[in-house]
Amino acid sequence: MEEVLFAAEAEARREVRPEQAVGPRDVREFIAAIETIGQLKRITAEVSRNEEMGAVTYMYNHRVGAPALLFEKIKGCPPGFRALWNQLGSSNDRFALAIGEPTGLSANELIRRFKNRSDRRIAPVMVDPKDAPVNAHHMRGNNIDVTLFPAARHWALDGGEYIGTCDATITRDPDGGWLNVGCYRQMLQSKNEVGLFLAGGRDARLHIERNWAMGKPCEVVACWGIDPALFMTASQSFPLSELDFAGGLAGRPVELVPGEATSLPYPARAEIVMEGVIPPGSERAEGPFGEFTGYYAKPPGPAFLMQVKAVHYRDNPILTHALMADYYPANECALVRSLGRSARIWSDLERLGIPGVKGIYCHPAAAGGLAMTAISIEQRYAGHAKQVLALAAQCPAGAYFSKWIIAVDEDVDPTDINQVLWAMATRCHPATDIDFMRDTYSTFLDPSQNPVENRQFGSKALINACKDYRFIKEFSPRTKVRRSTYEAVSRRWKELGLEGQPPQLRALEED
Ligand SMILES: Cc1cc2nc3c(=O)[nH]c(=O)nc-3n(C[C@H](O)[C@H](O)[C@H](O)COP(=O)(O)O)c2cc1C
Repeated sequence: MEEVLFAAEAEARREVRPEQAVGPRDVREFIAAIETIGQLKRITAEVSRNEEMGAVTYMYNHRVGAPALLFEKIKGCPPGFRALWNQLGSSNDRFALAIGEPTGLSANELIRRFKNRSDRRIAPVMVDPKDAPVNAHHMRGNNIDVTLFPAARHWALDGGEYIGTCDATITRDPDGGWLNVGCYRQMLQSKNEVGLFLAGGRDARLHIERNWAMGKPCEVVACWGIDPALFMTASQSFPLSELDFAGGLAGRPVELVPGEATSLPYPARAEIVMEGVIPPGSERAEGPFGEFTGYYAKPPGPAFLMQVKAVHYRDNPILTHALMADYYPANECALVRSLGRSARIWSDLERLGIPGVKGIYCHPAAAGGLAMTAISIEQRYAGHAKQVLALAAQCPAGAYFSKWIIAVDEDVDPTDINQVLWAMATRCHPATDIDFMRDTYSTFLDPSQNPVENRQFGSKALINACKDYRFIKEFSPRTKVRRSTYEAVSRRWKELGLEGQPPQLRALEED
């Protein structure tokens, strides 16, 4: 019988015990951690916030695993004000360190560990405001000037300078009282006004609209300069209090202090915190903005307008930026969504009781991890593959934007696009193995549909690239290396003068 290697034995042995597995408490601890593994590049030469930092980030990230960029001297900003771009980038190792896991793990293993972590919650703790690093400096009243922070025009045709792209924005549900954390783009409008762009259905939008319906302003806290575990949480949808999930992911509670200008708490270790309100009807045009699709996609339009009431910031603050780009390694949406979304879809399928799922991967090159999901399954019954396809396409974690959902057998590694393409080429019969879903959950940011008004509905192709279940027993045998030969060659790898490690093979011919 064919034996399949799902996770390297070595990886399993390196499982970190929960009490050890604590991620960095803030962006500074994260910077220190990634610098020790050569994953941080400091740029000390002066740069412009007007397209230059964006261009450097894009050009430097044309290879997978390029280090994060810390710009230390930015034209027009007070000395010491810094900007960190693409803190996670396309590096699995930075993703692992962000949640307290060791470096050197495969994507499959990271997804499994992220999934375990996202199933647990650790409630935030309140700390003494006097000890909070973010309370080192304050801007209040006429002294408020958010334009001093290194906001930037990322792309040539951006409609303005963006201060929030890698942010965590906190609002409270006016009915339930729980706190939401979301990552939403924010464009500078003036010294004390910042735009907030929210797609339909976002929790913060629901909170604002509900407050407005009650005739009240909506309070908001925007954190600009956040640790990557908070960024991971903010950029995904978790039910109810998301600060608990941020704690669970990082293995330690988020430290909060009580708000000064609003009733919302804010993170004690963020770099910069803006407290503000959005009064009823407060909107102004913003955009366009170079998006995760690699297009400007949506023309300028009205967005919520936050009125800044107070700003708190650390010594020599670091503003975090997420560049969105057409090219995967340069797109900060890609890895965070690819690994996080894969884990969340897997959890959704597990909750629905679907058996046989062996791996899931949302490919980062497909519109920042949103457009393509590959799922590896051990087919257990007739119709199993199509059931998995339909559910992965429509479950809460997988429904938004996704266009290509592909099922492969358990001998195919879903994280390896070459193997997925091989399965599509040899196990899929397009005339019978592709189904379509129409009028599905999509976004105005998808440029493939025109005119723009049509974009709220999308469509999905469900591709069954598994062996035909009717003939699964007699399906043509695939070429495989014999297990004993694989082990012998692996042992002789160095002696044979071959560099690196032998590859893990999912399918081996049993002796
Ligand atoms: C880098 C990055 C930027 C994002 N920008 C926006 C944005 O401008 N507006 C928006 O509605 N969603 C944006 N998102 C997606 C939301 O963060 C994501 O859907 C999240 O789940 C929203 O939180 P919520 O479900 O609590 O509303 C962005 C995601 C990432 C990773």
